[in-house]
Amino acid sequence: MQHKKVLITGASAGIGEATAYAFAEEGCELFLVARRSERLEQVAGECRRRGAPHALWTAHDLSQPDGGTLIVQECRRQLQGLDVVVSNAGYGVVGPMVEIPPETVARIWQVNFQSGYETIHAALPGMIEQGSGHIVLVSSVIGRRAMPYSSAYCVTKFAQAALAEALWGELRGSGVGISLICPGFTETEFHEAATRTESAQVASRPFRPDTAESVARVIVDAVRRRRREVHLTGLGRMLIGLNRLSPALTARLTAWVGRRQYKESH
Ligand SMILES: NC(=O)c1ccc[n+]([C@@H]2O[C@H](COP(=O)([O-])OP(=O)(O)OC[C@H]3O[C@@H](n4cnc5c(N)ncnc54)[C@H](OP(=O)(O)O)[C@@H]3O)[C@@H](O)[C@H]2O)c1
Repeated sequence: MQHKKVLITGASAGIGEATAYAFAEEGCELFLVARRSERLEQVAGECRRRGAPHALWTAHDLSQPDGGTLIVQECRRQLQGLDVVVSNAGYGVVGPMVEIPPETVARIWQVNFQSGYETIHAALPGMIEQGSGHIVLVSSVIGRRAMPYSSAYCVTKFAQAALAEALWGELRGSGVGISLICPGFTETEFHEAATRTESAQVASRPFRPDTAESVARVIVDAVRRRRREVHLTGLGRMLIGLNRLSPALTARLTAWVGRRQYKESH
């Protein structure tokens, strides 16, 4: 891993920040992206302290079209190469679908999916040419089985899973790997930062959330061992397993859990 050049989006907080530290401890060179520059500067400083030979950053709003393409160009210029992309930036939208206007969906699509597509599209030709590299897509357990009241968010996470599946087939034998990471509820700013519709005001929280650090360790391990898909929580693995066995039963279960959480939230 030493001196691998790693681009991470959403690196100013949560899973992205923890992932930056985990790669820094491996001696990787980092290029960090998010909107908040002061946070990125702090994270980059901490990465250097933890062993990254270079930790550079750029403040970029990925809700703007072509952001993904621009950050890859900037990363290649500043680090003089690119070995690993962690497409992680994202946020949630919570509430009944009828309260989520199409323009809200367009924005979350751009940030959670389209910007990642742009990033990967710009990064892959160079990786294929050099015959090595790795792409990580941070999706979610609800990118494999949708939950009520998270429709727009789930659409973006399903799209990431579809892209990873298709690319896995396309990249076989190229030397470039791809990993889909599916965390469950993780303790980060994500839940406070989520956009809530009028009738979905309060976030509910499960009993034992995961930590950003444990997701970060899984991401580094997935790159090292070229893992195709990783589900982090036992509950997530159970849900996906049950969904394979009985989609109808899983639909009823998720409808019940989703409705209950939603009712408890207001
Ligand atoms: N936390 C969970 O329970 C959970 C579960 C499953 C999957 N995930 C996924 O994990 C990923 C990371 O989430 P997290 O939990 O670490 O959340 P977080 O702590 O809120 O971090 C989100 C990151 O994305 C960046 N970001 C958001 N909007 C952006 C934009 N328009 N342009 C550029 N950067 C933007 C944020 O930086 P700035 O605000 O500085 O721009 C921040 O660095 C997301 O894709 C999320 O869907 C999270």
